[in-house]
Amino acid sequence: MANNERRQEIETFYRQTAPIFLKWSPDPKRIGLYAMHIGYQQDWGEPLDNSISALQMSRRIIELSEIKSGQVILDAGCGVGTLAFEIKHIEPKAGVYGIDISRNHIHLASQYEDRDDSFCPIFSIQDYEHLAFRSGTFDRIIFCESFIHSQDKTGLIQESSRILKSKGIITIADIFMHPHTLTKEEVDIIAELKTHMHIPNITHIQELVALLLANGFSCINPRNITENVVSPVDYHDSSPNGQSLDAESSHQDIETLLAGLQRLLRKGKAGYYILTAQKNKTNTT
Ligand SMILES: C[S@@+](CC[C@H](N)C(=O)[O-])C[C@H]1O[C@@H](n2cnc3c(N)ncnc32)[C@H](O)[C@@H]1O
Repeated sequence: MANNERRQEIETFYRQTAPIFLKWSPDPKRIGLYAMHIGYQQDWGEPLDNSISALQMSRRIIELSEIKSGQVILDAGCGVGTLAFEIKHIEPKAGVYGIDISRNHIHLASQYEDRDDSFCPIFSIQDYEHLAFRSGTFDRIIFCESFIHSQDKTGLIQESSRILKSKGIITIADIFMHPHTLTKEEVDIIAELKTHMHIPNITHIQELVALLLANGFSCINPRNITENVVSPVDYHDSSPNGQSLDAESSHQDIETLLAGLQRLLRKGKAGYYILTAQKNKTNTT
């Protein structure tokens, strides 16, 4: 599919689902912004509010990415920037860049650039498969639930390696398949996700590890955090305010899609991972 067509499909999907994400996980610090990732809960006491658990996920990703003062960080597929803002909040002296293919997301995130520029990441519209940054620019590249949309996982890992400094770290937080046989119902769930959420395929976790190894990464640590993730559909029996997607569009109700994903996670057919890997030292001889 042509790049432009794919961009438009992704933009349309996220434009239609924006009111639902805004309702589920509003950014507690920035009006109009919202997280588009699953929540994280360390201990199963009182269930956390969606916005808080989404913030906890950002913090867990930041912690595992070992972000330090003065580093240059790329949030690839940053959405409206909730993770990028949190990185800047925790490490104000880091240089934080957020890129996303959806113009609407970057437009929303950029509204905060003027208000508080010293604590704001730098946002731009870019396709993570063809980044406009020089080779060796970044200490960290983070994909928070954006990797899953990639059509060319090998190309994406190679592009990530290109823009990383040697010994830089890639972090990928996303859903990955396990090598189990799927029932007909599970195959159907995956087909629905692919069609309606613009997911070309859901990679097996071992394939991702092999891909990273083959492309010059080591210290690969795939952490299965499925037991700690909490999806907004755990909290909602029906769509917020009865909202559903445009009935005339081909999109299904996002809750049905996320509930399908939850089923795969609960049955162990897929897992939610935060994977980190380090780019090998570049051979300069
Ligand atoms: C589930 S959302 C996650 C957004 C954000 N990382 C967050 O955690 O809130 C996935 C994001 O990936 C972006 N995306 C999908 N394909 C992309 C591409 N080729 N290049 C850049 N961003 C992309 C989408 O526009 C969307 O904002």
